[in-house]
Amino acid sequence: MERIYVFDTTLRDGEQVPGCQLNTVEKIQIAQSLESLGVDVIEAGFPVSSPGDFQSVVEISKAVTWPTICALTRAVKNDIEVAAESLKYAKRKRIHTGIGTSDFHILHKFNSNREEILDRAVQAVKYARRFVDDVQFYAEDAGRTDNEYLARVVQAVIDAGATVVNIPDTTGYCFPDEYGAKIKYLIDNVDMKQAILATHCHQDLGMATANTIVGVLNGARQVEVTVNGIGERAGNTSLEEVVMAFKSHKERGFDTNINTQYIYGISRQVSSLMNMPVQPNKAIVGRNAFAHSSGIHQDGVLKNVETYEIIDPKEVGIDDNAILLTARSGRAALKNRLSILGVKLNDEELDKVYQNFLTLADKKKNIRDEDLLMLVGKESRKARIKVEYLQVVCGIGVRDVASIGLNIAGEQFEATATGNGPVDAAIRAVKNIIKRKMKIQEFLIQAIDHGSDDVGKVHMQVEHENKQYYGFAANTDIIAASVEAFIDAVNKFVE
Ligand code: KIV
Ligand code: ZN
Repeated sequence: MERIYVFDTTLRDGEQVPGCQLNTVEKIQIAQSLESLGVDVIEAGFPVSSPGDFQSVVEISKAVTWPTICALTRAVKNDIEVAAESLKYAKRKRIHTGIGTSDFHILHKFNSNREEILDRAVQAVKYARRFVDDVQFYAEDAGRTDNEYLARVVQAVIDAGATVVNIPDTTGYCFPDEYGAKIKYLIDNVDMKQAILATHCHQDLGMATANTIVGVLNGARQVEVTVNGIGERAGNTSLEEVVMAFKSHKERGFDTNINTQYIYGISRQVSSLMNMPVQPNKAIVGRNAFAHSSGIHQDGVLKNVETYEIIDPKEVGIDDNAILLTARSGRAALKNRLSILGVKLNDEELDKVYQNFLTLADKKKNIRDEDLLMLVGKESRKARIKVEYLQVVCGIGVRDVASIGLNIAGEQFEATATGNGPVDAAIRAVKNIIKRKMKIQEFLIQAIDHGSDDVGKVHMQVEHENKQYYGFAANTDIIAASVEAFIDAVNKFVE
């Protein structure tokens, strides 16, 4: 079997999604789960972009042992110095530097020419090699870069000391045959020495996984992926799809180091911490990925599961019997399920989550993984403004009225308002207390499960002083969830 290296960029490219930003503690939790999952490289951030990103790379470097920790830079000396500093605690470290190589980037972004860009690429790699032995170069927009020029750049950066060269289809533009041919052209026309090529595909036309697979079939040996395929715009190649594609097609002769039984747990962990629901029909990890609903399919599966199922759900950590927890479940069962989901709590944290679990289990018969992760997330958020109580009168033929009590930094405030529906009344009541200019730009309510006792998840985008803030909450009461999501967003701009 030929080994394919898995480079996970959930914490860098994935985290660039608006509203999905994580704090350092959450990033460490995900990095530790990625380590258990068995990824080879964790791209932990873009350290020069913000002090928060810098600190996250430092802390992840301390918290993780086996995977290589990678930090992104532009082909700029200061970026490289800052990245090197952020990696100082990493046991294995890599700097990922690069520059746009397509004519679109060269002419319009850099107002430059091919020779100058080639020189900047070489200088960046040489400079990064002064700090670390493992330097990866990315040729941004390689998907739309002329192959002959791209080969010159790849050769030059390998000669300058790059260990891995990343060929991103930054705009998700390539057809699979075109991307495969690009990788083959590079393999045939570049003296690769000890270096390898990496795929980095975006999903704009829905071809990221296909492009990644053909990239490997044509000679790439590293795949750059994110959990659940999250990432800017339509997202990146999803880790679970590529890994399971190779695992399901052993005859192709490729293998990864991924412990696939952890896939489902990390999928739910990332979805919950980033407030990014997984679409029900998402391959491998969607709620319906293994649900057979038509009569013909159910009949076939009952006779022999392989008639319609190419992957045993247990291989990716989906074990339906284990998912259901009820009000009669004890702390140990809760702790066990959380650890499968990649959440490790100390006794005090477990106690708090267990109390919330019992309250929820009283309202909702079966507690699912999403519910548990939501409860854990709730405990980790420390907010300045908290809802003390909310009372709403609503229905048919009555005026919608809401009364709310808020605790703001220890002080109590109360207000009442009417509105066009119960949510509007409740938000108006909040605004009677917090008199700032704020406008809801997006409001999304989603049920997690099927029943009428389900938990509703609310995502809210609130504009304040021309900036966007994102709030999230989940509750069996969707009016309460809406108010809590609004407060969650407000908490991000009130001092
Ligand atoms: O899509 C892209 O080109 C990238 C690079 C920065 C690697 O994310
Ligand atoms: Zn990207």
